[in-house]
Amino acid sequence: MCGIVGYIGNKDATNILIEGLEKLEYRGYDSAGIAVVNNHKINFAKHKGRLSILRDSLEKNNLEGNVGIGHTRWATHGEPSDLNSHPHLNPGNALAVVHNGIIENYLILKEELIEKGYEFVSDTDTEVIPYLLDYYYNGNLLETVQTVVSKLEGSYALGIIDKNNPDILIAVRKDSPLIIGAGEGENFIASDIPAILSRTRKVYLLENDEMAVLKKDSIEIMKTDGTKVDKEIYNVDWDVEAAEKGGYDHFMLKEMHEQPKAIKDTISPRIDKNGKVNIKEFSLNEEYMKNINKVYMVACGTAYHAGLVGKALIEKYAKIPVITDVASEFRYGNPFIDKNTLMIVVSQSGETADTLAALRLAKEKKAKVLAITNVVGSTVSREADYVFYTWAGPEIAVASTKAYTTQLVSLALISMDIAIKRGTTEGTIAKGIVEEIRELSEKINVMLKYIDEIKNMADNIYKSEDIFFIGRGLDYYLAMEGSLKLKEISYIHSEAMAAGELKHGTLALIDRGTPVIAIATQDKLYDKMLSNIKEVKARGAFVIGVVKESNKEIEKIVDKVVYIPEVKDELSPTLAVVPLQLLAYYVALKRNCDIDKPRNLAKSVTVE
Ligand code: G6P
Repeated sequence: MCGIVGYIGNKDATNILIEGLEKLEYRGYDSAGIAVVNNHKINFAKHKGRLSILRDSLEKNNLEGNVGIGHTRWATHGEPSDLNSHPHLNPGNALAVVHNGIIENYLILKEELIEKGYEFVSDTDTEVIPYLLDYYYNGNLLETVQTVVSKLEGSYALGIIDKNNPDILIAVRKDSPLIIGAGEGENFIASDIPAILSRTRKVYLLENDEMAVLKKDSIEIMKTDGTKVDKEIYNVDWDVEAAEKGGYDHFMLKEMHEQPKAIKDTISPRIDKNGKVNIKEFSLNEEYMKNINKVYMVACGTAYHAGLVGKALIEKYAKIPVITDVASEFRYGNPFIDKNTLMIVVSQSGETADTLAALRLAKEKKAKVLAITNVVGSTVSREADYVFYTWAGPEIAVASTKAYTTQLVSLALISMDIAIKRGTTEGTIAKGIVEEIRELSEKINVMLKYIDEIKNMADNIYKSEDIFFIGRGLDYYLAMEGSLKLKEISYIHSEAMAAGELKHGTLALIDRGTPVIAIATQDKLYDKMLSNIKEVKARGAFVIGVVKESNKEIEKIVDKVVYIPEVKDELSPTLAVVPLQLLAYYVALKRNCDIDKPRNLAKSVTVE
C-alpha cells in the first residue's frame, strides 16, 4: 500500500526521502516519486516502477533542497504510470501533495473544479487535493489545508509542501496511517516507523482528524479544526536492524528464523511464574466471559487462517461457538451480533481496510472487540476495546510468517484465558497446554533445521503447474496457509483441500507426478488421512507428508516426509507451518521470483 515520507531540516532532503521510501518498500508499490522545495520552486521526479528507476533519474538530475515529500504508490484510481504517480502538484507547480488512502467524493470535487476551469492531468483521486489547495489558497498554507480537508470524504494521510511557505511541511491523517518523527533541528513524517528509524526514535502517532505543522525545529499538532492537541512522544525501543535483512537473503527467510524469538516475546509477558495465563490487557471479567454467546473471528489472508485455528481452540476449550469469516465477506452479510458477542479481529498490520470496517460494524452493534495485531498504534489497535499485541517485530516480507505463528500462540493463550474464566477447562489441563505453548519456541528451532531436506523437496516440485495441499481438521486450516504461501511467492497455482472432499471433484486433477503436500498431524484423524494419501498415491501423485515424529511408518507410503516434534494436536500448526513456509520460499527461489515483494500484492491492504 502507499508509503509516505517527508523531511524538513538542513540536510539534503532527496537522500533522506529515498532512504525512507526504501524502508517502506515492503508495503507494496508500483511507482515512486519525490518533490523538494528549493529557491521558491518545487522540483519533482516521479516514475512508474521500482525505486531504482527513481534513483537513477535523480542521479542524472538531482533535486536540491531541505524540505520535501516522497511517496510509493500502489495503484487504486488509475493505472500505474508516471503521470498517476505522486507527488501531485497544482497547475503552476507551487504546491505538492502525497496521499495514502482514497478520496471517496473525488468525482464530485473534480467536476466542480473542471467547471472552475481546472484541467486534470492524471486519473487519480488524489489530484483534486492540490487543485483544491490552489483554488482556496490564501497565502496561509495551514488555513488553506484546513479548508480543503473539510471538503474531503474518505481516507487520507497527506504530506504537503508549498514553494511560498518553504519553511513548513504539513501532515494530515484520517483513516490512513501517518506518524511524525522528531529530530534535532529536523523533523519527519512517514507512513510507518522503519522509514525514519535510522534518523530518530522519537515519534508522535497521529490520530484520525489530526494534523501537524512541521518546521525544522518545531512540531505543532492540532485537530484539523485547529484545536490544539497535546500528544505524548512515543520512544521506539526496537532496533533499526530489526527492520532490515540482518544477513539473510530475504526478509521472508529472516522473519521465518525470527519465529522462535517472536513466539517467546509474545507469550512470556502473558504467562505468570506459576505457569498460568495472565493476559493483563484482556480485562474482561468472569461474568462477561460466562455470558458470551458466540465469538466472531474476522480477518483477511494469513491472519484469517490463524483465526480458523483459533476457532478450533476456543470451541474446544472455552465451549463457545465461533463463527469465522473473511472480513470482506463478513461486513456484507447479516451477522448475529449483540452485546454478548465477542468479536476477535486478527490483523498483522492493524490497517487492513476490510478488517477495520468489520471491527467498526461489530462495535456499532455493541459487541466487545478484541484485536490481535502486530503494530502498536495501528488503527485497529486504537479502535478495538482490547488489544493483544503479537510481539513479532516489524514484518517486512509481503508473505506473512512470524506474524502468523505469533497469532497462533496468541489465540491459544486467549482461548485458555476465556476457558479458565468460564470454568470450561480444568486448571491442570490448561496448565499442561500452557506448558506446551512455552515449548513451541524451542521446537520451531528444530523445524528450522530442515532446510536441506526442504531444498531437496523444492527441487522435486518447483516446475509443477499445480500443487495441492490436503489435511483434515486443523491440518486443513494449515493446508490453506501452506497453499497461500506457495502461490503468493512462487506464482504456482495451488489449492488447499479438506482431504475428505478430494473425491468430490479435485481428485480428477491428480495425475502422474502431481505434487500433493499431505499434512497429517492430528492423532484422531491420522488413519483417515492415510486413506486419503493412498487415494492420491494411487493416481500417481508425488506426496510430501508432514506428520508427527512417532509416525515413521508413513515413509513406506509417501515420497518425502517432514517430521514435527510430538505436540498436542491443537498446537501442531505452529510447528507444521514451518516446513510449508520454507517449501514456499525455496520453490520461489528456484523460480527466481521476487520473494519479498511478490507481483500484484501489497503488505498492507488499506483499501477495500
Ligand atoms: C495482505 C498481506 C497478507 C496478510 C493480509 C491481511 O494480503 O499480503 O500477508 O495476511 O493482507 O493483512 P493484516 O495486516 O490484516 O494481517
